[in-house]
Amino acid sequence: MPATSDFTPIRTEFCGVSVSELAQKYGTPLFVYDAALIKERIQDLSEFDVVRYAQKACSNIAILDLVRKAGALVDSVSAGEIHRAIKAGYAPGGDPPRIVYTADVFDHDALDLVVEHGIHVNVGSPDMIDQLGERAPGSTITLRINPGFGHGHSQKTNTGGEQSKHGIWFDQAVDCVERAAKYDMTVTGLHMHIGSGTDFEHLSEVCDALEKTAESIGESLISISAGGGLPIPYTEDDTYIDLGKYFQLWNAVRKRLEAKFGHDVSLEIEPGRFLTAEAGVLLTEIRAVKTMGENTFYLVDAGFNNLARPILYGAYHPMSICPLAPGETEPDLQQVVVGGPLCESGDIFTQTEGGFVNARPLPKASVGDLLLIERAGAYGAVMSSNYNSKPFAAEVLIDTERPSLIRARQDYADLFRDEFIPND
Ligand code: LLP
Repeated sequence: MPATSDFTPIRTEFCGVSVSELAQKYGTPLFVYDAALIKERIQDLSEFDVVRYAQKACSNIAILDLVRKAGALVDSVSAGEIHRAIKAGYAPGGDPPRIVYTADVFDHDALDLVVEHGIHVNVGSPDMIDQLGERAPGSTITLRINPGFGHGHSQKTNTGGEQSKHGIWFDQAVDCVERAAKYDMTVTGLHMHIGSGTDFEHLSEVCDALEKTAESIGESLISISAGGGLPIPYTEDDTYIDLGKYFQLWNAVRKRLEAKFGHDVSLEIEPGRFLTAEAGVLLTEIRAVKTMGENTFYLVDAGFNNLARPILYGAYHPMSICPLAPGETEPDLQQVVVGGPLCESGDIFTQTEGGFVNARPLPKASVGDLLLIERAGAYGAVMSSNYNSKPFAAEVLIDTERPSLIRARQDYADLFRDEFIPND
């Protein structure tokens, strides 16, 4: 990982490819991903026995295929994500299991699919044990434990503590082992994920909590998972966490458990954002520049239908401009608010939590210039909607300076393909 993040107000190339050529060829709004960076992030975590990609961050099958070929296994949180994993070449089964289903409920489709393919389940609610036990007695399962505390970049991404719906409350772990035994099921692993975009301090508290719960369950455990949640730098002040130190903390827990149990314990990590966030940009075109009192607005052709993180969490995404006619000189910056085309005042990319509109310095730009919303590779395309009947954006993956279309822009006919006007 670089010591500092590279933020730049002007960007005319992405992964060695001209940004304006990408816009011309594929249109905007467009998600563009850097394959090499995703592979590099998987490599950064190679000390862990298993890197299990939390595909909810970016689940295009081409991204899953890339992640699979780079050696990572996959986590799925729905029937749809299991279908995606299989489509991308992850064969169900394996030791460690190539596909894991982690959720707090089985809907009927997910339960059917898990049973059909023998997908390993990381159970997030005690009721799931009975539901799986009745259909697939004798399965091995892991437990997702809520350690009683959590932390995230927003209260909405905090997945631990009493206010969270996620996981099995830590003091019910042993009961769950007994509940599983009724169906001849064995608990072979523990998993904790306390939140997304948290910090080193909070992440490391999970080590102790997991170790205590593991001791209460004992030697049936052959794997532990640190969950996801690794932060990435979104602002110039953000830094990477010390991965070496983080691994050491977990490795020490694993070693102590191995000594206690008398057998190997495999150590997993389950990142989503860390693998794909920095690798993706949302490429947009400025369609209007206007002043409203003190504020200058750049209105682009992407909205929160394409990237919901700012309106949902007040999330900050760095931005850059690709001018139609690049100049030689230093960019002339001005304070601007960046918004989208949607008919809703919250459709602003430069806002803080609570919906407060912020201006930020960006190069002076005009209609037709391109604006890149950076670090949008995680929880970008996957959280898109068709609000205001906007089609889903296209997605392009660049590998060794070669762009490939990995999702076609949605067709207008697709918007209402599944809608019906009842007969009179
Ligand atoms: N494992 C579990 C069980 C999770 O619930 C999540 C994220 C992850 C792994 C991956 O977390 P990551 O490494 O990406 O932080 N939409 C929000 C993030 C929601 C995350 C939900 N669970 C955002 O845009 O920040």
